[in-house]
Amino acid sequence: MTKRTSPIIVGNWKTTPANLNQAIKFIKAIDKKYSSKKNKMPKKGFYLAVPEIFISEISKECVHGYVGSQNVSGVSIGQTTGTTIPSQLLSAGATFTLIGHSEVRAQGETADQRSHKVALSLQSKLLTILCVGEHKRDKEGKYLSELEEDVRKSLSLVSRNNFNNLIIAYEPVWAIGGDTPATTHECFEVVIAIRRALASLVGIDYAKKVHVLYGGTVTKENALSFIQEGGVDGLLIGRASQDVVSFMEIISSCYGA
Ligand code: 13P
Repeated sequence: MTKRTSPIIVGNWKTTPANLNQAIKFIKAIDKKYSSKKNKMPKKGFYLAVPEIFISEISKECVHGYVGSQNVSGVSIGQTTGTTIPSQLLSAGATFTLIGHSEVRAQGETADQRSHKVALSLQSKLLTILCVGEHKRDKEGKYLSELEEDVRKSLSLVSRNNFNNLIIAYEPVWAIGGDTPATTHECFEVVIAIRRALASLVGIDYAKKVHVLYGGTVTKENALSFIQEGGVDGLLIGRASQDVVSFMEIISSCYGA
């Protein structure tokens, strides 16, 4: 696995905040805090997956981070109502998208739709974060082979050359929105399974280019441990990214700033 020099810190705003004014206030506040430590961090050091309707405004305001979407369509341009295609997100200022978040899967997203979304998003040059994670664990470890199968199906239409713009986020569903994160050991075990699935698809050299994140009850207290001991290159953060202070504390701790 090639370690990035910088950790990849991604916030998922989900359906927050309530309106654009609050979103802009958040971005201004985080940029200000970031600026005060900027000599210890890269020019842009975080990613925020925001409600789609905010992307064009927020991406103009956000100096120190990248702005992206929480989902994208896999259909081609034309006659489909109520969905947004990658080229539209890019033109609004998005640089990345999440795909296959468990809360999107729960709304009925199929494996086939997911594979089209991932392929189109990567072809369109959006940095693409595919989310995978088990609902529960079984003693026999069947969840590991199910996760590997999920990775293989979701990436079945992706060409090798696009693997360098792909990130996989391991988000165990049982750890999202609660108070019990995975242990770093549990995380590490799944990272190995994800890499095995990637290598079986495209071989080890292409598989190495893919970065892996952990998400599920990440806090300022546990954030760094996943990067140091859990085998991941970064984090996908829900609730703690929806508050300026806690998000900035996580960013600072991951950069040692
Ligand atoms: P929490 O960090 O609130 O558990 O949410 C994780 C998540 O769903 C990020 O995508």
